[in-house]
Amino acid sequence: MLVRKVQFENFRNLIDGAVELDEGINVIYGSNGMGKTNFIETMWIIGGRRSFRGVKDNALIKITNGKRENSARICARFFSENREQTAEMILGAKKTATLNGVDLPLASKMQEHFHSVVFSPTDLELVEDSPQIRRKWLDDTISAMRPKYDEVLSLYRKCLDQRNAVLKNYFDNKNSAEMMLEIYDHHLSSYGEFLIKQRRLYLKAVSDLIPPIFEGLSRGSEQFELEYACGSGCGLREELAIALKTARENDIKYASTTVGPHRDDVTLNINGLNVKTFASQGQKRSAVLALKLCEAQIVENNTDERPIILLDDVMSELDTYRRDYVLNKITGGQVFITCCEQSTVDIQRRGKTFFVENGKVTEK
Ligand SMILES: Nc1ncnc2c1ncn2[C@@H]1O[C@H](COP(=O)(O)OP(=O)(O)OP(=O)(O)O)[C@@H](O)[C@H]1O
Ligand SMILES: [Mg+2]
Repeated sequence: MLVRKVQFENFRNLIDGAVELDEGINVIYGSNGMGKTNFIETMWIIGGRRSFRGVKDNALIKITNGKRENSARICARFFSENREQTAEMILGAKKTATLNGVDLPLASKMQEHFHSVVFSPTDLELVEDSPQIRRKWLDDTISAMRPKYDEVLSLYRKCLDQRNAVLKNYFDNKNSAEMMLEIYDHHLSSYGEFLIKQRRLYLKAVSDLIPPIFEGLSRGSEQFELEYACGSGCGLREELAIALKTARENDIKYASTTVGPHRDDVTLNINGLNVKTFASQGQKRSAVLALKLCEAQIVENNTDERPIILLDDVMSELDTYRRDYVLNKITGGQVFITCCEQSTVDIQRRGKTFFVENGKVTEK
């Protein structure tokens, strides 16, 4: 899909206006605090998403001299599903969305029509933080593409909570607890197998797509490998059942389930070395960027629509070669890149450039 034009009113610090966008690369530059991220955020919010900066919707409505406006409005003209479309999102007491003049039952439904992938500096936690973040990344990304995954994940979590409750009260009635554990282990193994299979499939798709991207970014000098780190062998139903049985004594002691997909991780290595422990800042950024570019490709393979790619502050800490790759070599889609340095704009060889100053977005 392609966003042709975006229009905004009362959105953060942006001065009300409309911007015609390039079909390929759009670079948004300016000094700190001017509104660059706010500008690309308009294109995330109109897609029915919550802010990628983890704030509530009302933080997006313009505040002037301490007073918040009643509502903010974003409109986009875009090409998708082989036709020109219009989307409108109003953030007020309620969030409402209209697609081609028809109200959507829920603003979040816009996600099914307006596809976007974002890189934001907070995404670096994907390679820097705990396994929980990587599991969340897998769960969110796969759920967005496969509603069945989300369903099974909910069932798994519910069952896990119930098993943990039984473990907690195990000594109140051992016989009944053992019986309940048998039942929960059976369900957890079956849901768990499904989740692990889907996670492996997603990571396999990423692993297949990543080599050319990472080679491109690193001038062929680095290889980025991902592997599902499963605490129960291959994660087959029988293996999970055995792992749960073996862990039971321990689980009773700690009143918590210690094996299963809720404890798994993804190992990320560059040239055989763990990213979290060994990679440089630029390598970490490149790794997350590569994962996001793969995500865009996988969304496209699933929906036949190339999502727009929003890259917020991806350039800092990347050397000139890597910046050149991001600006000039990423192919087949619409990309938005924010940056602060004129030196980045100087190496841009295609697309449009926008300058942002005190909330005013101007094409250069
Ligand atoms: N609801 C709001 N109303 C008015 N101004 C806001 C609102 N939300 C954020 N701002 C202002 O927007 C500015 C930040 O904009 P933004 O995050 O887009 O900056 P940036 O150009 O991306 O800067 P950096 O280069 O540091 O990332 C700040 O000055 C902030 O006070
Ligand atoms: Mg910013």
